[in-house]
Amino acid sequence: MKILVVGGGGREHAVIKKFKENKEVEEIFALPGNGGIAKDAKCVDIGATDIEKIVDFAVKESIDYAVVTPDDPLVLGCVNALEEKGIPCFGPRAEAAIIEGSKAFSKELMKKYGIPTAEFRTFDNLEKALSYVETCPIPTVVKADGLALGKGVIIAQTREEAKSALISMMQDKAFGKSGDTVVIEEFLTGPEVSVLAFTDGKTVKPMVSSMDHKRIGDGDKGLNTGGMGTIAPNPYYSEAIAERCMKEIFIPTIEAMNKEGRTFKGCLYFGLMITENGPKVIEYNCRFGDPETQVVLPLLESDLLEIMQAVTNGSLDECEVKFSDKKACCVIMASRGYPVKYGKGYEITIPEDIQDRVFVAGAKLENEKLLTNGGRVLGVTEIRKTLREAIEASYKDVERINFENAYFRKDIGAKALLAEV
Ligand code: AMP
Ligand code: GLY
Repeated sequence: MKILVVGGGGREHAVIKKFKENKEVEEIFALPGNGGIAKDAKCVDIGATDIEKIVDFAVKESIDYAVVTPDDPLVLGCVNALEEKGIPCFGPRAEAAIIEGSKAFSKELMKKYGIPTAEFRTFDNLEKALSYVETCPIPTVVKADGLALGKGVIIAQTREEAKSALISMMQDKAFGKSGDTVVIEEFLTGPEVSVLAFTDGKTVKPMVSSMDHKRIGDGDKGLNTGGMGTIAPNPYYSEAIAERCMKEIFIPTIEAMNKEGRTFKGCLYFGLMITENGPKVIEYNCRFGDPETQVVLPLLESDLLEIMQAVTNGSLDECEVKFSDKKACCVIMASRGYPVKYGKGYEITIPEDIQDRVFVAGAKLENEKLLTNGGRVLGVTEIRKTLREAIEASYKDVERINFENAYFRKDIGAKALLAEV
């Protein structure tokens, strides 16, 4: 089989490595891939949002199956365009990807169908939004409606902060059109859990839960990033909570999307907060999380391609989705200065014996040397019987990987270890 993967981050590298376990897979193309992915797939210099070129390439190469993992091509209708040419795909169509593409849409969906989430108001008028935050409970959360590279959420501790967030989004267009509409929501507290779930629109099969570490600094301090590390499973996600989530959130969401005529097929990501009043949805993503995928897929014992094809064919109910009961930890190595300003072009050395556990994100190949080329450079995942062992093993690997100005958090998994006892 010839497989095409759209994207070029650590998440796509994890998907591609998993595909290589399947004997049917003969060739994998990554569009655009990256310097590290180039070891495992043929990288083609076509951007993940260049839908016309992606479709032309897929047709020309007679691709048997395409997997679209990043948010923007999904929201832009990459799956629709591929399907129109008869290419079977994994990933939601644009009508369903809106669940991530518009926070106003997803909040209204949850309200309409009684899915637990933070109380909220939606505004497309700056004056009205400013006047609302004069009196709303504080802290409050200001969110840009559209995609904003994970940066469109401001937790405002004061009214002044809320106002400047609104001005920056709605007037100064910090996130372009994504901030034309904003959602202002109730500030919730509690541990956060990420649950990725396969769904074919009828059956939903959740993957092992995980915990992201979004802030740049130890102790969850500093700016939000794309994610600085993950562990799985998440110790806060007990069996009782999982049962409630299935009944109160997962199934109702799939049914709600069907009722709206927006059947979701692919991987639906539930960003949850376990509050005093039960689990609530913080956000939906229409795709695998990054770096959640880098801990979840290494624990998957069933065949990824078979599951994805079952999602496409609507036969997920007959397909086994089995996970190991081991624990995983992924530590992200970034370039110092990320998520603001950082240098590029530093040579990366990765010892041969740990290459298979390294998922490369921001790197390019030049004269056969792997050079840094982005903020989050790579992630290294280890799997062990206990979480503590997995964390220790990941950090041992990190010590053996070198590039100038490397930065990583020292406390990935620390909070989870506290929750375990
Ligand atoms: P998001 O980009 O929607 O995942 O939001 C980024 C982060 O902001 C989340 O992981 C939460 O830590 C935090 N956050 C978002 N919404 C809320 C909320 N309603 N209450 C408290 N924290 C929130
Ligand atoms: N790790 C969070 C995300 O993928 O959006």
